Amino acid sequence: MLVILSFSSNPPTNKVFKPRRCYLVSQWAIRCVFVAVSRTKTGIEGLDKALQGGLPEGNMVLISGGAGTGKSTFCMQFLVHGAQNNERGVYISTEQTESELIKQGLGFGWDLESLIKRGLIKVVFYDITGGDNFLKRLDLILKEFKPKRIVVDSMSTLTDAMIVGGLAEHDAFSMVQIAETVSPIPRTEQLIAKQILYRLLSSLRAYGVTTMLTSELFEEAARLSADGVSEFIADGVIVLSYLGVGSSVFRSVRIRKMRYTDHEKGSLRYEMSPKGITIKIDDLAL
Ligand SMILES: Nc1ncnc2c1ncn2[C@@H]1O[C@H](COP(=O)(O)OP(=O)(O)OP(=O)(O)O)[C@@H](O)[C@H]1O
Ligand SMILES: [Mg+2]
Repeated sequence: MLVILSFSSNPPTNKVFKPRRCYLVSQWAIRCVFVAVSRTKTGIEGLDKALQGGLPEGNMVLISGGAGTGKSTFCMQFLVHGAQNNERGVYISTEQTESELIKQGLGFGWDLESLIKRGLIKVVFYDITGGDNFLKRLDLILKEFKPKRIVVDSMSTLTDAMIVGGLAEHDAFSMVQIAETVSPIPRTEQLIAKQILYRLLSSLRAYGVTTMLTSELFEEAARLSADGVSEFIADGVIVLSYLGVGSSVFRSVRIRKMRYTDHEKGSLRYEMSPKGITIKIDDLAL
């Protein structure tokens, strides 16, 4: 049993604090609130089960992995699944143009072009050489398009671009200056990643958008994102990797962190087929 006491903002002059209200909240009620968290289904077979029903709605999740592990496909499947259920999604891409993404989707049987035409998916190509103000543009997209799902592919390229083109991104640029003045240790990338993520988090939280951010990871890397800080700020981290056993190689996914829900902790095998990404249900202990 938990007791919450609420005090008056002006304590009485006799200096004895008297509670104005007393709330009794049972642990059962607290558990109900925790369990009743709304879920956003990823549409990735097996993953939703491993997450006890899907990603907690509004979570910002890092999808980390090496080259070709399927990060972009993972994110696209998440958006396509939402669009098929009338949830608008935005794909912010720093690496592939809209036509390249449409081509990639066709390989998995997803008609991205038609979903774009129907106003269910919007692809925003962020030209990292163009000196675009990403955060301002994102605010505008959130206001106008009102998406329920967002993908930023890739977060690492975006951070790199902001370091190089800091002049256009005033907030980030001032962070570079502070970092360089305050510390001779080159940790500028970490500071900017932190700055961008905090801004992203506050914008996205206000709109209740569920987000996937990709981060490139070298095989055998000790950290969980390219910048080494995103994993602490993000609500969740899902790591994709290739595992080699003898002469055979297989793909493996691990939910390394996910706030507001219990989840499968071990590594699960996944497959990429012309139907998209599937996680082997037999591997699930849940
Ligand atoms: N139609 C398909 N069916 C099955 N597997 C495919 C298909 N098309 C691509 N793949 C697999 O998907 C991989 C690429 O996936 P994806 O682009 O999502 O990876 P990524 O992690 O985003 O890569 P990058 O590091 O280049 O950004 C390819 O290397 C290939 O193994
Ligand atoms: Mg990719």
